[in-house]
Amino acid sequence: MNILTPNIITENYADLPPLRLDTAKNLADTRAYVEGMLSRPAEEMAEFFTVRENGYDEHMQMFAPCYDVTASHIPADCRTLLDLGCGTGLELDALDRICRSENRAFPRVVGVDMTEALVAQLYKKHPDKDITVTLGSYFTVPLGEQEFDCAVSVESMHHFSLDEKLPLFRRIYDALRPGGIFLLCDYYAACEEEVALCEEHFRIRRAKAALSPDAFVHIDRPQLAYKEAEVLRNAGFSRVRFCTVGVEGTLLLMAEKA
Ligand SMILES: C[S@@+](CC[C@H](N)C(=O)[O-])C[C@H]1O[C@@H](n2cnc3c(N)ncnc32)[C@H](O)[C@@H]1O
Repeated sequence: MNILTPNIITENYADLPPLRLDTAKNLADTRAYVEGMLSRPAEEMAEFFTVRENGYDEHMQMFAPCYDVTASHIPADCRTLLDLGCGTGLELDALDRICRSENRAFPRVVGVDMTEALVAQLYKKHPDKDITVTLGSYFTVPLGEQEFDCAVSVESMHHFSLDEKLPLFRRIYDALRPGGIFLLCDYYAACEEEVALCEEHFRIRRAKAALSPDAFVHIDRPQLAYKEAEVLRNAGFSRVRFCTVGVEGTLLLMAEKA
């Protein structure tokens, strides 16, 4: 068993296989990538994805197993689903496949995303479903109180620090009903050095960008998953489990609201 084996589930991070098949090579590759990028200013988040909207779904197929694994953990009786950073809705496509194969109803979905061009693709793919997307940032748009059975976020929140995530996780906790679950599938660092390297990358390129201080930029800031789990618990979640999704450097965190 290694990180490419999906659905290894544990509350204890130390029980997981290493996040990378070759941690040293991953660190060297990340270092080479960062060095190649340092002279470029950071790109604003929505602009980054808008420029790349053509072929976006095809590009993201490298994460294909994580959509299926994440969607498979959405409770079968989920009637209301919050999708944070839904983009073109690849996780919703996976959920749709499951609902069809099991002959069950697709939930009412509220998405949040700041890239209009990707959201337009989502609406085009699912004209027949009860999906409403709020255009804006999940840090600030209202998420509601005890409205959702489940919240999901796939490959979106690795652009933010743990300090920024604490208030966001509290808002997600509040938006869930008691007994609800937050499924956070994301890119995580394999070691402290990777975190430090990516944070330095962020700091240098963010400073070069001629953007307002509160603008979001697209630079990966993967965190250590066990520290992120601690932040989820500090936000109120009673139990957090880790689940492998069959993709290197990616985990699903399953955070339960009692
Ligand atoms: C890599 S895409 C992932 C989209 C989709 N979940 C998927 O896996 O295909 C990241 C998405 O997060 C969105 N995003 C990033 N920061 C955001 C924020 N603060 N509020 C709302 N959406 C955000 C981007 O607009 C983008 O659509």
